[in-house]
Amino acid sequence: MAEVRQRKKPEGPITTHAADVTSDEATSNTQDELPFAWSDPSTWPLSLKFLPVPIGLLAIFMAIYTQYFMGEAGFDMSTYETCTGTFNYTFRINAARQQAEELATHSWEYGTAAEAITELVNPEKAVFAANPFPNDKIPNQGLKMDQALLFVHRHIRYDNITLFDDDGYSVSDPASLGITAVMIGQRWQLGNYLTAAERQKDFLLNDAPRYINGAISHRSEVAELWSDAVSMFPPFLAYYAVHKQDMALLRAAVHQIQLYRDALLIPDGAKEGLWKHIVGPSDMADDGAWSTGNAWAAYGMARVRATISGWGPSREVMGEEIGKLDRWIAEILEGAVRTDDDGSGLLRNYLGQQSWFGETSGTSLLAATTYRMAVLNPKVFAQPKYLDWAHAKRSAVASRVDDDGFAKPAVNPLKHASREPVESSPEGASFLLMMGSAWRDCVCRHVCTLEDQGKVDVQ
Ligand SMILES: *[C@@H]1O[C@H](CO)[C@@H](O)[C@H](O)[C@H]1NC(C)=O
Ligand SMILES: *[C@@H]1O[C@H](CO)[C@@H](O)[C@H](O)[C@H]1NC(C)=O
Repeated sequence: MAEVRQRKKPEGPITTHAADVTSDEATSNTQDELPFAWSDPSTWPLSLKFLPVPIGLLAIFMAIYTQYFMGEAGFDMSTYETCTGTFNYTFRINAARQQAEELATHSWEYGTAAEAITELVNPEKAVFAANPFPNDKIPNQGLKMDQALLFVHRHIRYDNITLFDDDGYSVSDPASLGITAVMIGQRWQLGNYLTAAERQKDFLLNDAPRYINGAISHRSEVAELWSDAVSMFPPFLAYYAVHKQDMALLRAAVHQIQLYRDALLIPDGAKEGLWKHIVGPSDMADDGAWSTGNAWAAYGMARVRATISGWGPSREVMGEEIGKLDRWIAEILEGAVRTDDDGSGLLRNYLGQQSWFGETSGTSLLAATTYRMAVLNPKVFAQPKYLDWAHAKRSAVASRVDDDGFAKPAVNPLKHASREPVESSPEGASFLLMMGSAWRDCVCRHVCTLEDQGKVDVQ
């Protein structure tokens, strides 16, 4: 096709340009040259004779470039963008993403999948970005909806008190959709996502049941605190605070985390620093240090921490809160490292309880937390005691991800005390994306070094 088009003579009156071409052709026709033949190099035009020169130069350039930037990892480290674009996650992360999207049915599964997709596909808009709030505002959306928002927008309810209708079961879970509601509402007028986010925030602060210490309940029927809730509503309150430029609300998000920790922290013994799963009046109460619950708490804190340190106004005045969050996250990681004694290389479903199997969900989200914190506070978290551990946990999980993107064995996300692992976990699939993206960002921002990568590859 292209050849045909090129040879077509201009139609209509001859333009100046066309006239030039015609006269060039005429000139070259008058030269007394041998007809071109592949078999006879003397008939080759100069450009062809010297073709080896540019090819050779290109090869030398590629060799130097590869040596210099690609290292052993096999991806392009020259900039953050080229690094993330060519990154080798070592497991089928896109298959896991498909599972995260297809398996989600509950509010927190949609919210968590949307967060995970943002971190994977639009890391510049996640709170973990190098500059998450350009000009101290939440990032602008472009003409096209980001993939995370495209996925989640139809699952957000914008005409009622909370962002999801779960028959009034949970207070905190629907709030996990809050950040994406703000992102959508800030740019698109379909439905009123911003008003809905405001109502969701008001409901949390003014109408939700409170635990005796003032913490916003995880559940609607009873005032009950679940470690899970720390990933559901404080990251939303913090993000909403940036959107409204409301420092008091940002402090309230941290205060809520503090109240959760006050109630859930295991203060001493082998599980010191870890969090209980559930406190409250119902028979759901659970003193055990559920691995996924600790991961929900740690990763939720990391997201709030990144929001505070990523926003100019709070970075300047909330140093004390940042310090607290870093200590609370470190406590959990220390506890996870200390109780990590299963031969599978995975964390046990209940940390510090030897009767429990190792499983992938809590393990991957705690590894993700470690990588995020290593970038946010390298002095404390980019030490081998954390990073080498995270590499080993990631490696143990990644080696168990099958071709369909399932990591097994994973705890039943709806029955945390079940001794039967499940074949597929919606939240577990999202955690794989979070682990992959967190590791990628740690490498691409030069905190996780390529030597670490080499160590893990050897296994
Ligand atoms: C990605 O990494 C894995 C594990 O180290 C390796 O087996 C695979 O060949 C790599 N893939 C590419 C495209 O480099
Ligand atoms: C709004 O939410 C409440 C509580 O979840 C529910 O009882 C009610 O039916 C909902 N109203 C509509 C119009 O969906």
